[in-house]
Amino acid sequence: MTAYPPCFVANWKMHFTLKETEDYLQAAGILLERQPECSSEIILAAPYTALSSVAAFLKASGAKISLAAQNVYFEEEGAYTGEISPRMLCEIGCRYVIIGHSERRRLFGETDGDVFRKIQAIGREGLLPILCIGESLEERLAGKTWTVLKDQLAKACGDNLPNDPLPGSMSNWIIAYEPIWAIGSGRTPNASETAIVHERIQGFIGKQYKKGRPRVLYGGSVSEKNIESFMKEAPIHGVLVGGASLSPESFFKIIELGEGAHKRHLVDCS
Ligand code: PGA
Repeated sequence: MTAYPPCFVANWKMHFTLKETEDYLQAAGILLERQPECSSEIILAAPYTALSSVAAFLKASGAKISLAAQNVYFEEEGAYTGEISPRMLCEIGCRYVIIGHSERRRLFGETDGDVFRKIQAIGREGLLPILCIGESLEERLAGKTWTVLKDQLAKACGDNLPNDPLPGSMSNWIIAYEPIWAIGSGRTPNASETAIVHERIQGFIGKQYKKGRPRVLYGGSVSEKNIESFMKEAPIHGVLVGGASLSPESFFKIIELGEGAHKRHLVDCS
């Protein structure tokens, strides 16, 4: 089994003005210095307006943190008022883009087709997706979790458009498994059951497309209290954190606890 360095994504959603971003980054810089042994991949998904400030901070501080956007449009350029292209995100210093978050699907009508076109478009610029998938509570209670996830994955990878292949390898992709009912609710699924879902996701992508095996993160009400239970499961390669990432202290505590649980698990298994 491949051992991945754990990955922690802060999804700030629609939070933080430039001043608030500066305050956050200043605190994050201090917290990072206190964790010199940190070997995790840390990703900050900032709103568009804060991306260049975060990029400038990362450049100046040399912090080993990657930058992600929370959305993108799939066209290269043109008359699309209010939209942002993959090339613009690339130029600003993004490495990742969150695609298909359930809030975008639910509140902004983003379809599986849009998700596929966005993944294709960012791939052409060398950006990597953090592809979000997840089932509703109703679907879960009806025993349809895997059917729903498999359908979302297949459509995001263009299975219904076989003549329109995805560019590049999928081994650097991140899939975020986020049960919709767990997002922002304080409720989480059982960690060992979640690990089984992660194995199926990774196995499905690996076998179906033969372009590598992506990492699979868990997302939904991750906190300092529950991070260790998730990170001691080998198929959970990291977490996508919303609410708890808005406090740098809390986010970096989650990283510290999560990385510790992950390392202890590796030692136990060796
Ligand atoms: P949450 O959000 O941690 O606040 O539940 C997670 C997400 O939506 O990515």
